[in-house]
This record gives sequence, C-alpha cells and structure tokens, in this order.
Amino acid sequence: MKNKVSARAHTNIALIKYWGKQDPDLIIPYNNSLSLTLEHFYTDTTVTFDDTLSEDTFFLNDQRINDKKVVHFLDIVRDKAQKNVFAKVESTNHVPTSAGLASSASAYAALALAASSAIGLQLTKRELSRLARRGSGSASRSIFGGLVEWEKGHNDEDSFAVPIEENVTWDIQMIAIMINSHEKEIDSRSGMQHSVDTSPFYHDWVKTTEQDLIDMKDAISKRDLAKVGQIAENNAMKMHATTLSANPSFTYFNPDSIRAMDAVKNLRKSGITCYFTMDAGPNVKIICSKAETPYILNKLSPLFGADNLLVAKPGPGATII
Ligand code: PMV
Repeated sequence: MKNKVSARAHTNIALIKYWGKQDPDLIIPYNNSLSLTLEHFYTDTTVTFDDTLSEDTFFLNDQRINDKKVVHFLDIVRDKAQKNVFAKVESTNHVPTSAGLASSASAYAALALAASSAIGLQLTKRELSRLARRGSGSASRSIFGGLVEWEKGHNDEDSFAVPIEENVTWDIQMIAIMINSHEKEIDSRSGMQHSVDTSPFYHDWVKTTEQDLIDMKDAISKRDLAKVGQIAENNAMKMHATTLSANPSFTYFNPDSIRAMDAVKNLRKSGITCYFTMDAGPNVKIICSKAETPYILNKLSPLFGADNLLVAKPGPGATII
C-alpha cells in the first residue's frame, strides 16, 4: 500500500479558553471552549502511508524532527483503521517565522484529516474533530471554520467541536501583536495541568467560564462586538490568573505583553472597540472590527513595529488540498 493525501487546516484563537483536562489521556476538558478560526495562519500537511517504510518519519518545514506525539497520534489512526503501516508526515507551517503562533491546533487538525484519509478512513467532521482532539485539544475546533464551540463531553465519543457560525459575515477580526520571548515557554499541556493541580482558583475558573460561554453565545447571536471582546478579555485574564496563582506560580506575560495590553486599553479609552486575549505565550491578540483595523494599526505601529502586527480575518475549516 502507498497512499498520499495533503490537507490544510487553519489555526484558531479561543474567545472562551480551554484550560485543564479531566482526562489527560483522552484530552477531555473541564469546560467548553469557543474560538474563531483564522484565515491568516495555517498548516499544510502531507501524509504518505507506505508499506516499504520501517518507521514513521516527520518533517516540519523540511527539517526532520523526532516527535513522540506525532507517532502516538499515528498509532491512534492505525488503530482506528486496523492497519499496521508506517507513514511519512511532511508539514509546513504558514505562519511568519518566530511568530510564536505555530499552533498545535492547525497542526493536529491538518494531520487528522490527511492521515485518516490517507489510511482509507472516511470520517465525518464530528469524527475528525474527535480524532484531532487526541493530538491537541484546541485542534478539535480547527476542523471547522469561523466561530466554533468545543463541547467538553465526558468521553471519547461525546467530546467534539461544533460550528456556531462557519461563515462569519459580520465585522469581527483579529490583530496579532508578535512579541519576542527570550525565555523558554511552559507548553500549554504542562501549564494547564499545573494550574489544575495547584491553583486554588481553578474551580472558580471552571465555574465562571460556564456563564461566560452562555453570555458569549448571546453576544455572538446579537453581533455585539464590544460584548464579545469584553467577555473574551475577562475570560482570558481569569485563565491567566490560574497560572499566577499556581504553586509555584508561572506566567506567559512578559513586559511587552503588558505594554500591548495597556495600549489596547488606551485605544479603548479613546473610543475604539478593541479587546485583547492571550494564550500560552507572550503574544497579544486584539479582537476588533475590520473597519477600525487601519486606525489601530496606525496607532500601534510606532509602539511595536508595523511588521509585528498581523491582521487575521475569520477563516475556513480543514480541507483536503
Ligand atoms: O490545544 P492545546 O493543548 O495547545 O491548548 C490550548 C490552550 C490555549 O491556547 C491557551 C487555549 C485554547 O482554548 O486554545
């Protein structure tokens, strides 16, 4: 057997964050999350299952990488297909180099689609979302375009993402402020586990996020950008509060992240509808309208450099290419 398939998946940024797993092996989260898939950042992955291979190989941006997580993911695919054949995986991340946005979301969504198709499985989008989840939780959402909710469920069968609005036609987009980090970041996997294990605020994070999700869906249905931004910003800061309150504490903020968040607040004071969110890294993402984006870019360019500001509009779900 030799079968080759290529797929593309876009990354997503959560407006309601996923942070913490009930089941670390199956990646079942403690709370539902909700994200916007972005057009600007994506991963292309080609998977070739080939009888003549004696091991799995993985190339990222043309460089051979030893990644146990990729092999583990291929094991799950082989197990589902009941086939014992190794694969060559070739991925290209279409994100600006060193952007720190090279998200596992686009990576595992593209890998789930390419690998399952190449091995001969014909999965529904829901099944693909479940499969992508096994690689990285946020990848479950990147199977779909636009605004997407990951329903936490309780087990492998009922934990998957569903589209809320695949084709976003109202005025919402993001600007990512690229911030360089000199320190090695704590990956999301170990960061969230440490928050679950040691933050006294973790329970309140889960509890209040349930209401955030209800309010967020209401704001989305009303196309209320200010409300969407407010809830997203507050939700993100509550997530980060579980890192600051972990023991020992840690943070993804660096001085420039704080500078960026202040700049967004200042723009807001001057009447611009813009809010920020942050993930497991120092970059700050602004939630804003397309209409006000030029003004925001103009104000932020002198502070962060025009090249470090990347505009991303809503993007599509994973596709075979
Ligand atoms: O999917 P992971 O394991 O990379 O975790 C993603 C965690 C956050 O990006 C911080 C939040 C989210 O919901 O995407």
